Amino acid sequence: MGDPGSLPGPPARRSSGAPPHQWPSGAEGHPLQPYDFSTLDFDELWAGREKTTRVEREVVHRSFRGATGTRVLEVGPGGGRITPILRAKFPEYVGVDLTSDFLEKLKAGHPELPWLLVADVQSLPLVDGSFDAVSMVRVYNFLLDPDSAIREIYRVLAPGGRLVMSYHHAPSVGTLLEDVRLCLLDPRPLGFVPVTFSRRELLLPRRSRVLGSLRQAGFEVVEERATGLEDFGPGRWLSERTLLGLAEATSGWSGLPHRFVVARRPGTRLSPLPAVSEILA
Ligand SMILES: C[S@@+](CC[C@H](N)C(=O)[O-])C[C@H]1O[C@@H](n2cnc3c(N)ncnc32)[C@H](O)[C@@H]1O
Repeated sequence: MGDPGSLPGPPARRSSGAPPHQWPSGAEGHPLQPYDFSTLDFDELWAGREKTTRVEREVVHRSFRGATGTRVLEVGPGGGRITPILRAKFPEYVGVDLTSDFLEKLKAGHPELPWLLVADVQSLPLVDGSFDAVSMVRVYNFLLDPDSAIREIYRVLAPGGRLVMSYHHAPSVGTLLEDVRLCLLDPRPLGFVPVTFSRRELLLPRRSRVLGSLRQAGFEVVEERATGLEDFGPGRWLSERTLLGLAEATSGWSGLPHRFVVARRPGTRLSPLPAVSEILA
């Protein structure tokens, strides 16, 4: 998550002419303004957290096991942490991110990636049914209108297409205690925002709300996994194998903070996807 140094200050008052944002009913812990990514440095943010990245890549890999098709959309690749696993599975890769600086850096490191677009997942400039798969890791909590994002992802997926998405959910007693412990040690000990904090910079939904929103958009929820211990407390010392075992074993339990959901657009794709050169709406 973001560097605390880049956290926005108290929510700015909107100018009198601007309409207030309408929150979808039932959204808990909604932020009041977009998160500011302008000063986020992914290299610094993820330094020393390679185990977390390896666990999350493996969870994404397992979540796409058995998926067919050729083209994947990655929403919010940021520094490209999850990108290699998606490229290994799908020959055609398209990335969309709201922050052009992240895409430029990604492109500089990977000139072979021609399809990196600055776009908002809440309103995708992509034609219907143009992807077999969508991945959206660690993005949901930053969205002002996640229901629109989920509807947009459903629209751009072809029938039978698969979404793998992660989110941090509303804090449990355990994660709140961990927040307090970290704050007593140092106000910014880990160099990232503890999204489990009961603060309001980020959307912190309940699991039922996320699953409800997916189903309302038309998705079938296929499976879930839960991670997050690798960044916190004694969980840091557990082996990857144990952490991955826990991810499978705790799939239906909201105790771990970072949840991965696999959802499927019902149906079967009967015609080929449009050519990648024709996906821009
Ligand atoms: C915390 S980073 C996660 C990056 C990467 N997926 C990972 O797990 O390391 C969130 C990313 O989502 C992007 N993002 C935030 N809101 C977005 C939106 N509405 N549409 C597209 N991308 C967005 C940000 O620019 C940033 O790159």
